[in-house]
Amino acid sequence: KPRRMVVVRAEAINPDIKKDEAKVVDSVLVTELSKPLTAYCRCWRSGTFPLCDGSHVKHNKETGDNVGPLLLKKQ
Ligand code: FES
Repeated sequence: KPRRMVVVRAEAINPDIKKDEAKVVDSVLVTELSKPLTAYCRCWRSGTFPLCDGSHVKHNKETGDNVGPLLLKKQ
C-alpha cells in the first residue's frame, strides 16, 4: 500500500471567508434543515460557505489533502 506524503505548512487554513470576524462560527438547528441531506464545507474553499460547493475536490487534487464536507441528514 503506497504511503501518502503529508506536507504541513504554517499558514492560515481560511484563505478568505469572513476575515473581518475574530472567529467564524456557524450553527444549524438540524430539525430546520429543508433538504434531506446538506453538506457543510470543512475545507474553507467553498464559494457558498458554509455550504460545500465541491471545491474540496480541486483543493485535494492540487495539494494532496483529503478534506471533505460535513454531511447533515434530516431524520
Ligand atoms: Fe469545502 Fe466541499 S467545498 S468541503
